[in-house]
Amino acid sequence: MSITNKKILLGISGSIAAYKSADLVRRLRDQGAIVRVVMTNAATHFITPLTLQALSGQRVHTDLLDADAEMAMGHIELARWAEVVLIAPITADFLAKLTYGHADDLLSAICLATTAPLIVAPAMNQQMWQSRITQENAERLQQRGVKILGPASGSQACGETGTGRMLEPLELVQFLQNEFKSGPLQGKKVLITAGPTREDIDPVRFISNRSSGRMGYAIATAAATFGAEVTLISGPVSLSPPQDVQMLSVYSSQEMYEAVMARISTSDIFIAAAAVADYRPVQQASQKIKKNEAHLQLTLERTPDILAQVANLATPPFTVGFAAETEHLADYARSKLEKKKLDMIAANLVGIEGIGFDSEENALSVFWADGCIELPRTYKKMLANQLVEIIMQRYLLT
Ligand code: PMT
Repeated sequence: MSITNKKILLGISGSIAAYKSADLVRRLRDQGAIVRVVMTNAATHFITPLTLQALSGQRVHTDLLDADAEMAMGHIELARWAEVVLIAPITADFLAKLTYGHADDLLSAICLATTAPLIVAPAMNQQMWQSRITQENAERLQQRGVKILGPASGSQACGETGTGRMLEPLELVQFLQNEFKSGPLQGKKVLITAGPTREDIDPVRFISNRSSGRMGYAIATAAATFGAEVTLISGPVSLSPPQDVQMLSVYSSQEMYEAVMARISTSDIFIAAAAVADYRPVQQASQKIKKNEAHLQLTLERTPDILAQVANLATPPFTVGFAAETEHLADYARSKLEKKKLDMIAANLVGIEGIGFDSEENALSVFWADGCIELPRTYKKMLANQLVEIIMQRYLLT
């Protein structure tokens, strides 16, 4: 996770939106961040330091001239400790203080003394936000590199409607996660397909398979953890979207093909974990087919081979296919690797209880032109990390 072990100093100034800061602390800690809270005097009228102490698991700081704190963790210490200073909410008054470099309370003194990036989430009456002086202050802070998140618009605590609401804690956490994304795949775009496709026969029936999407979703999570910018194109599954991943839901092989092709030119790595239907009905009946006959014949046609088309582009990304086989795993996988001109293929046995389709676990044999590696049976989440690590090593060699 990108903010795991990140030292975040959360400043809270005096706004009714301070109640959201409690949830923000909890969510930051859920993501593994270490959070210390500094409150202005006004903020303590909206939410108690005790609440934030309980949630952060750390002493909350409020006073600039605190004899105990100056002995141990004074404003300079806090300024040095922070890897990022986030002020949420920041009031119009505190925004002005920052603009003019005041340092007459603990939080403003820390902002002046720190070299950590400063991020602020304004919350104020919509007229105060719109006022020329606040807008000028915000612009000057932005010019100095301060990141301003929001405010959002909507109904306000004062009864008015407009722009001035603090962003939701989850939105702030997501911003921080993107901001501090790091890892060997940082700056790389990874496109992944997952899940089954559905090929309609009539309005109520379709051809599909047992893919649950777990393998592809786990790979997407692993790639995001390694710092990649991940887009996941998923057929119909019942999984929640992975964190830090851009999701696109599709239905049929044709939709998946179009979604992949629209994004492939900007992708560095393509991983095809989806179980795309190989055939689809030539015609889809517009009404439910009646069971009048003893036999019914469907004429099927090949679907576009997404993986082969990507690998055969003039400038293909690093292309990784999957092979799902019930026998001759290595032979069939190597043959797909060569025929489709892939950089790598991950082969799994399917039709066996407990691995492959619709299971928590799997085992993979990974092949590339002059090598292979066995990844023994384990949870798909673990396997995905191992696979992405191998992909990364091979990709970085190209
Ligand atoms: O989703 P889970 O329940 O977690 O199960 C995981 C899985 C078994 C589906 C996964 O590990 C897997 O093997 N995915 C590929 C399944 C498959 O369709 O294999 P295949 O051997 O038929 O296809 C070879 C490759 O071509 C695959 O990368 C496939 O995505 C791709 N393909 C196939 C047909 C097609 N029209 N377009 C394609 O891109």
